[in-house]
Amino acid sequence: MEKEEVQVIPLHHRKELIEECAQLLNTYWSRSLNARIQSLEISRDSLPCSLIMVRNHAGKSEVIGHAKIMEAQGVDKACYIESVFIREDLRGKGYGKKIMLEAEKYSSGKGFKQMFLNTLDKQDFYSHLGYKLSHPVLTLGANAHRIPQAMIDQLTKTNIKNSCCKSSTKFDNPTNTSQNITCSTQCSSTKTCPDASVPSPPAAPQAPPAPPLPKIEKKCSGTANKHVMNQCCDPTKVTWMKKDI
Ligand SMILES: CC(C)(COP(=O)(O)OP(=O)(O)OC[C@H]1O[C@@H](n2cnc3c(N)ncnc32)[C@H](O)[C@@H]1OP(=O)(O)O)[C@@H](O)C(=O)NCCC(=O)NCCS
Repeated sequence: MEKEEVQVIPLHHRKELIEECAQLLNTYWSRSLNARIQSLEISRDSLPCSLIMVRNHAGKSEVIGHAKIMEAQGVDKACYIESVFIREDLRGKGYGKKIMLEAEKYSSGKGFKQMFLNTLDKQDFYSHLGYKLSHPVLTLGANAHRIPQAMIDQLTKTNIKNSCCKSSTKFDNPTNTSQNITCSTQCSSTKTCPDASVPSPPAAPQAPPAPPLPKIEKKCSGTANKHVMNQCCDPTKVTWMKKDI
């Protein structure tokens, strides 16, 4: 029997696979194919970089996974990973772990020391790979070099302040200023973190309670840490996580 080989490589080293990769990602995150192709064509060594998992089988190459790495702003030597994906029929075989470890190796080879990500419902998967709860970071994708540093600094501060504070989990302040910021899950709203140095505004009149969210199946495994377990499976929240690489 012919040996099956799986590799993780930058997509821009195999440009002929861009369309196949775009179609694969669109099976899960539906988007216009042209827009998807354009965003994948940006991949380059200097980031953002799309890594693809390619399976070579019976003399043919097929894309079976993807992960995109970008530079994170406002944190020294930090990058951000998104669109982590393994073809549906091949999940649960260790490929997700492999692409994450290869992405970490690739990023560390470029001098990055921390990997950030956010997720709606895969906290347990990332927790299993060593990711911990984190503050949010800002990413500017392919346009980062076009934006003046002062503006990036301002955006970075706003991004951290606008992260919603729900729990008392303490995170390091990524901007390395004197403050410590207590943040948890980032909401889609633009609530501001309570900051000890700023007096709180008077409380607004109470709105009527929101109707309960529809019940969703809990997929949490017993392996995640307590905070991750508590936040798991809430469809309204994005959880930020990070790992030293
Ligand atoms: C998330 C995803 C990439 C995982 O890929 P995968 O190939 O199924 O994962 P693996 O088989 O490599 O799993 C690695 C480990 O994580 C665990 N794991 C995988 N998915 C998990 C989950 N949803 N919850 C908890 N643990 C999980 C596995 O049990 C395995 O543990 P082990 O190392 O002890 O055996 C894949 O499910 C996927 O593509 N999902 C759709 C896209 C998506 O949601 N991406 C994440 C966006 S934030």
